[in-house]
Amino acid sequence: MAHPLPPYPATRLRRMRASAARRALIRENRLSVEDLIWPLFVVEGRGERQPIASMPGVMRLSVDLVVEAAREARDLGIPAVCLFPYTDPALKTETCEEAWNPDNLSNRAVRAIKDAVPELAVMTDIALDPYNANGHDGIVRAGEIVNDETVEALVRMALAQAAAGADILGPSDMMDGRIGAIRAALESEGHHHVAILSYAAKYASAFYGPFRDAVGASGALKGDKKTYQMDPANSDEALRLVARDLGEGADMVMVKPGMAYLDICRRVKDRFGAPTFAYQVSGEYAMLMAASENGWLDGDAVMVESLLAFRRAGCDGVLTYFAPRMARLLNG
Ligand code: PBG
Repeated sequence: MAHPLPPYPATRLRRMRASAARRALIRENRLSVEDLIWPLFVVEGRGERQPIASMPGVMRLSVDLVVEAAREARDLGIPAVCLFPYTDPALKTETCEEAWNPDNLSNRAVRAIKDAVPELAVMTDIALDPYNANGHDGIVRAGEIVNDETVEALVRMALAQAAAGADILGPSDMMDGRIGAIRAALESEGHHHVAILSYAAKYASAFYGPFRDAVGASGALKGDKKTYQMDPANSDEALRLVARDLGEGADMVMVKPGMAYLDICRRVKDRFGAPTFAYQVSGEYAMLMAASENGWLDGDAVMVESLLAFRRAGCDGVLTYFAPRMARLLNG
């Protein structure tokens, strides 16, 4: 506070809330279409559009239709999309080679989008779970998710994505040392311009359930991800992770999930002042959609309120499945 408030009635804070015009004048935070990143699920085929039961309104799309969605993003003013592949179970192995196949589904989708809509930023996910017979983000040996061998695989995966034309790489695996290793490899291969948005503070959360359905990882996952993703009880540890990832060369950092972790967003932004994003994850989307489809919540209103909260908490932007709907609302 710059100065103590004079007592009532000199101070009546309701004065500036008395009309829509006055409220608009003193509004502290706004959401813009330019704050949105739209996650898209990709599946093999042509003209393929597969609904995901736990995520009403979200579809897995074949590459041709993902390109259509990318055009829609561009037309709506959304600056970036983020791709997640649904991998054919036959391609999932314990060594995860499909992850760095230059022609895997994700890399083909990146190329197709960059061909058709070069001005749109394409973000990709770096983690082994879509390709892993075990469903884990890392390579599993004797029940352990091994760190350093996984990092080597992630580096191959990152280079294949950069070669396909991805603008922003999103390591979501939570292995130690991956940001530095990926940054060094990108630099040495001439990909100086490829940015890293690190999933720096990613919690071991039950809110990822519907996403695992969407990418077909639910059945595959053996055990849980608690030895690499963060304990939801921790906050200082998130700051250490963000400091570490920025120190290793992350251009932007992410907190994930979003709504239950807004305190972490605020601490990260205040401490580092770096570009900070939140992921409003599949379970958050599913909750809001389920309640609004039952008529228990006003869907548009809770969408706006939940997304504005990320701006208030200090985020520069949000990954959200609501991106096209929110953009349409903002564009009137
Ligand atoms: C995979 C990954 C996950 C999400 C994004 N990347 C799931 C997980 O870690 O199990 C979740 C996104 C969402 O729930 O919307 N590494």
